[in-house]
Amino acid sequence: MRQQPFLRQSLRHFDKIVSFFSLQKKEVVLPLHQKPLRGFWQKLVDEKILKGETLSVLAPMADVTDIAFRSMIAKYSKPNGPDVMWTEFVSADGLCSAGRDILKRDLEFGEIERPIVAQLFSSTPENMKKAAAICRELGFDGIDINMGCPDKSIEKQGAGAAHMKDWRLAQKVIRAAQEGAGGIPVSVKTRLGFNKIEYKEWLPKILEMNVPVLTVHLRTRKEMSKVDAHWELMNDVAKLVREKTGEVKDGGTILLGNGDVKSVSDGKVKAKSTGCEGVMIGRAIFGTPWLFAEDCGINAEETGKNTEYKLKALVEHTKLFEGRLGDIKNFAIMKKHYKAYVHGFDGAKELRIELMQCVNSSEVENVIEKWKLATRITEISSCA
Ligand SMILES: Cc1cc2nc3c(=O)[nH]c(=O)nc-3n(C[C@H](O)[C@H](O)[C@H](O)COP(=O)(O)O)c2cc1C
Repeated sequence: MRQQPFLRQSLRHFDKIVSFFSLQKKEVVLPLHQKPLRGFWQKLVDEKILKGETLSVLAPMADVTDIAFRSMIAKYSKPNGPDVMWTEFVSADGLCSAGRDILKRDLEFGEIERPIVAQLFSSTPENMKKAAAICRELGFDGIDINMGCPDKSIEKQGAGAAHMKDWRLAQKVIRAAQEGAGGIPVSVKTRLGFNKIEYKEWLPKILEMNVPVLTVHLRTRKEMSKVDAHWELMNDVAKLVREKTGEVKDGGTILLGNGDVKSVSDGKVKAKSTGCEGVMIGRAIFGTPWLFAEDCGINAEETGKNTEYKLKALVEHTKLFEGRLGDIKNFAIMKKHYKAYVHGFDGAKELRIELMQCVNSSEVENVIEKWKLATRITEISSCA
């Protein structure tokens, strides 16, 4: 049946009214707190940021910054740093499933690693809420939501970088985490945009949710890690964060920059010159668990002594991995660390090839001992 013109027009108006209200309804996600809930971050604000110091934190890296490597970093870098450690990302959906006990192993940590933040990912608010509550019960100091991971398997779940395509859902996920976290701070780590640089549109949507800390990996999702991080934009990102949330001394969001930071001193220069409160360091930590303790001198140019030191750390790290995670993780995970520990000295390539064949820590130790005898390295330097 053909509609009369009057009826058609009325229906069109009705549609408009309905879509107006549903749009309004969708957009209203009220923040939980008037000022961001800072929890342990407040101490860092008082003791560092307000005194003009910048922060250096450890990035979350899946199958890298596990409990074994974090223990190494804590042992060799603290008390100098890092100011905060992040776990590897963990699926909030997984934590709500029958397989939760295995995933909980990824969330084990030692007291020496504090303050420590658990990183979660999900696109299901209910699961995010439950997982945040689990992290609080496990004793984490904070929770971080991954809204930047470009991994296809994560994006397919609508999580990680996919959040940049649906800010309404992203806000709901943040809100759910805040509800589940019940008193511990919830931060967000993201990128400059999805296919293009669009931080001016995307970041305010996160900031509306009163996050105490925002980490921006200065690349888009499309750029992955293939281009240099856009530190040239950080001044503007910092200006935006201040405009939207106010000064840090008045409760404004703490901004951390991420991407290509090579050392703590490099990070200090980058943070100071761009106006962010600190930096998050990722790949530079490979093979150098003492990175955050710059003043111990171990970062000096490679010497015979340093080689010995690195090889000792490699064996210690391997034993820790085997002891803490050997029953649930593949030993092959350690191999990417070997590439980083074993380089820059004569015979490194041959030693690496031998290490790549090893399947447990005693084989690794034997290979290293044989190599030391053959190259007559006996002197042990110490940073502690
Ligand atoms: C092996 C690897 C694993 C990563 N896993 C995570 C992760 O679990 N969560 C996350 O937010 N970012 C992850 N990232 C990204 C890093 O946290 C960081 O944003 C990126 O490496 C850029 O910093 P960088 O230049 O200091 O390494 C990972 C990066 C690498 C190299």
